[in-house]
Amino acid sequence: MRRIIIFDTTLRDGEQSPGASMNLNEKLEVAQALAELGVDVIEAGFPIASPGDFAAVREIANTVRGPTICGLARCNTADIERAWEALKGATRPRIHVFLATSAIHREFKLRMTQEEIVARAVQGVQLAAKYCDDIEFSPEDAARTEHDFLCRVVEAAIDAGATTINIPDTVGYAVPSEMYDRFRMLLNRVPNIDRCVLSVHCHDDLGLAVANSLAAVEAGCGQIECTINGIGERAGNCALEEVVMALRTRSDHYQCETAINTKRLVPTSRLVSKVTGLEVQRNKAIVGRNAFAHESGIHQDGMLKEPSTYEIMRPEDVGFAKTDLVLGKHSGRAALSDRIRALGFSLTAEQLQHVFEQFKQLADKKKSIYDGDIVALVQQEISGQADEAWRLVRFDVTSGTGHPPRVSLTLSHRGNEVSEEVAQGDGPIDAAFWAVEKITGYHVVCKDFRVRSATLGRDAQGEVQLEIEHEGQTIRGTGVSTDTVEATILAMLNAINRIEQSATPTKEAAPSTSPRQ
Ligand code: KIV
Ligand code: ZN
Repeated sequence: MRRIIIFDTTLRDGEQSPGASMNLNEKLEVAQALAELGVDVIEAGFPIASPGDFAAVREIANTVRGPTICGLARCNTADIERAWEALKGATRPRIHVFLATSAIHREFKLRMTQEEIVARAVQGVQLAAKYCDDIEFSPEDAARTEHDFLCRVVEAAIDAGATTINIPDTVGYAVPSEMYDRFRMLLNRVPNIDRCVLSVHCHDDLGLAVANSLAAVEAGCGQIECTINGIGERAGNCALEEVVMALRTRSDHYQCETAINTKRLVPTSRLVSKVTGLEVQRNKAIVGRNAFAHESGIHQDGMLKEPSTYEIMRPEDVGFAKTDLVLGKHSGRAALSDRIRALGFSLTAEQLQHVFEQFKQLADKKKSIYDGDIVALVQQEISGQADEAWRLVRFDVTSGTGHPPRVSLTLSHRGNEVSEEVAQGDGPIDAAFWAVEKITGYHVVCKDFRVRSATLGRDAQGEVQLEIEHEGQTIRGTGVSTDTVEATILAMLNAINRIEQSATPTKEAAPSTSPRQ
């Protein structure tokens, strides 16, 4: 069995999904979950892209143990120095430098000749190699780069000190047989290729990212770059859970293995879905809610007689819990803690204590507490952790026939109670928005507003997820309560607290070409 390295880029390429940005605590939580999942490399971010990215990479490098921690940089001094500054606390740091190589990128984006590209790539790799031994180089848009030139750049990057060469299909254009041929071509033609690990990085614009990655593995590639739930730029990246389960389920064919603890796939998928607000489609392979549901009578009959008639994997092997265990007001902290872990979260003792208090309050309001309720409480704890400058003190809502809905609201700001405001709207939700805006002074545009019930039953908690726009930035907020107006206020405050926390103009801060590649 050949051991394939799993390089997770959920926190870098995945976070580039529109609307998927995560705060520091959420990134730490995901990084910890990835370490528990058993990924070999965590690409924690693009340190020069923003102070937030830098802080996240540094925190992850300093605290998460097990996997190699990687940071992205373009082939220039500022990027590489910044990446190293963030990574230097890691036990196993990796600098990942990239530079576009395809004719279209050379001509229109970089305006550089082939000679200039080779020279810049070599300089970038050599500089990075002065800081650490583990250097990855990516010729961006490699899947559309001329074979001869790709071989030349790759050979030069290896000579300069690159230990991993990653071949990205940046725009998701390749098809599997082409990908296979490209990897065979590199392995046959680049004389020093045996001095590095070959890696593949596929985008899913044609829905082929997993197939293309598997084709690369068949050709001899040793590392797969992927993200949880396949999140990422545009249509996303190769989905970790799919590619890992394909390798495992069809190990007879691929003769490969990974170090992934597959039982952590579903909990990690749920965690990423929660913190990014990107829902997993019901029929998504491996981690979707219907992935193991058998509806047709013939299938059910077969399943009862012998599960392997219709099931090629066992739900428990990917981490689907057998039961939706119900907790209640008599459940103790240990039961709650176990459940939280099984759901994919790992909280500090302090966070657990806080969630336990909320759990007890909720248990006073509703008899049965389901997984959905617990996930909602934990998520509120993780995303609220950031810096809860604004907090809800109390609110009152009146709504009915013949008079406009009205919300009276009292908030506190950094512990000081702010005077009450009353606002009217065309509905209680609208009135709640107005009241929050009046008190906080933030005028925002609501771009998306979703309410869903966290669990079944009419006593279920309502979970509000919203996206607001403020000074050109889109910010997410979530709030959960058995009262939907309260959940709305909490979601608004969650988003506003994120604005206050990231007071700096961030993602566009890097020089020259856009850092978001
Ligand atoms: O898709 C891409 O080309 C990338 C590189 C930075 C590896 O994400
Ligand atoms: Zn990418």
